[in-house]
Amino acid sequence: MSSKIYFPPSLQRYEPRRMVFSTWVDHLPFAYDLVTAIRPGLVVELGVYNGLSFFTFCQAMVENDIDGVAYAIDCWEGDEHTDAYDDSVYQDVQQHAREHYRGITYLLRMYFNEALRHFEDNSIDLLHIDGLHTYEAVKEDFSNWYPKVRPGGIVLFHDVMAKLKDFGAWKFFEELEASHGEIFKFNHGFGLGVLRKPGGAPVQTELTELLFSGEPETEKRLRQFYSHAAHFLEARRQAKRFKPKDSAYAPKGGQGKQAEEN
Ligand SMILES: C[S@@+](CC[C@H](N)C(=O)[O-])C[C@H]1O[C@@H](n2cnc3c(N)ncnc32)[C@H](O)[C@@H]1O
Repeated sequence: MSSKIYFPPSLQRYEPRRMVFSTWVDHLPFAYDLVTAIRPGLVVELGVYNGLSFFTFCQAMVENDIDGVAYAIDCWEGDEHTDAYDDSVYQDVQQHAREHYRGITYLLRMYFNEALRHFEDNSIDLLHIDGLHTYEAVKEDFSNWYPKVRPGGIVLFHDVMAKLKDFGAWKFFEELEASHGEIFKFNHGFGLGVLRKPGGAPVQTELTELLFSGEPETEKRLRQFYSHAAHFLEARRQAKRFKPKDSAYAPKGGQGKQAEEN
């Protein structure tokens, strides 16, 4: 890693607009920076659930004036790993999309295989694979959707460090690591894999140069950076939730309440 200070947008100005429970929470700063860096015209997510990762991509697009669209594909029924959930999950995602991202988001409530026909080959700039996490399912999703990614486009894989139960994204990603040139893995949280499809005219940015440098020291420091960035974001959120009126040091006479209302 060069001695130049890396000070990405997630540290400068990112405040998550949507926060729901998801193991994706560890990768929000990276997702925000990646979208800001590569400025995708077409984003597709396979596996949306309550939309934490999806709406992070959308937020980065809107806040950085990126002229693109984002497709969220999910049956919104749940799967063997999330368990089944009720319709309120979809309703909530739909409402958030309408309120904040009207005109740039499309929710396709269907199975991944059914959605394939809606996308041209070599068209997707950023694909996120986050459906069922068995080895077979991840392999199938990748095989079906990789042709849809444009040369030079990026594919993200969530849960590449999760080795519980029959999770197998980690195993499939290890196979890709052995055969793919431009590939990178964040180890923190449940892991996030990043792959760039060969060819085309890849967007060259400070972040993509760090991701695909192939230099062990640069890779190590990038991993450390985004692990710290996730902790920093969470600590900052917690600090903001801490209100003076809850504190033993809160001013007496209701000033804490007044401060909150102002
Ligand atoms: C791990 S969750 C997605 C998590 C989400 N990306 C986040 O930020 O928290 C997986 C989702 O994929 C969906 N899913 C799994 N297999 C699917 C398939 N073949 N077609 C459509 N949806 C699927 C499930 O309904 C579930 O909502």
